Amino acid sequence: MKKVVILGLAICFAPALAQANLIPEMLSQYEAEGGSNFDAAAGKKMWSQEFASEDGDMRSCATCHNSDVRTAGKHKKTGKVIAAMAPSVPFVALEEGDEPRYTDVKKIEKWFKRNCKWTYGRECTVQEKGDFLMFLKDQ
Ligand code: HEC
Repeated sequence: MKKVVILGLAICFAPALAQANLIPEMLSQYEAEGGSNFDAAAGKKMWSQEFASEDGDMRSCATCHNSDVRTAGKHKKTGKVIAAMAPSVPFVALEEGDEPRYTDVKKIEKWFKRNCKWTYGRECTVQEKGDFLMFLKDQ
């Protein structure tokens, strides 16, 4: 009997645990890698600050994700809708297999890498990534 109850509980809670927001863990990780005093204001500022690309156009995170991160963005090149970045916005899958925001470390790192390269022509530092997440976490 006990086993059945425990198994039932495990089945009920496993998906909830698997989808926890990982921003606090990521911030600790970035601290361990040398970042410190992550600053939401700095993250917010950099989010919308435009940089000239080699192609001559102006780019920022807001180019695809909008300055108001509670709104859905649009990919500059493909025109595809991008779900809002703010964790406070209820999750709605746009495509099959979409996961809620900030629930997969590999996904977060993959997109930081790709997006920082596209926006700034280089990868972001741990300090910058920490500042971005510090800003995004309370949106
Ligand atoms: C050219 C368009 C584009 C730009 C510019 C862009 N992003 Fe993204 N970003 C995407 C796409 C596409 C995804 C993946 C789809 C999704 O998660 O909805 C994504 C996903 C992410 C994720 C993953 C979120 C999660 O749920 O795991 C993070 C973090 C992120 N972007 C941060 C940034 C930051 C920081 C910048 C600015 C340096 C930036 N992005 C600029 C298109 C862009």
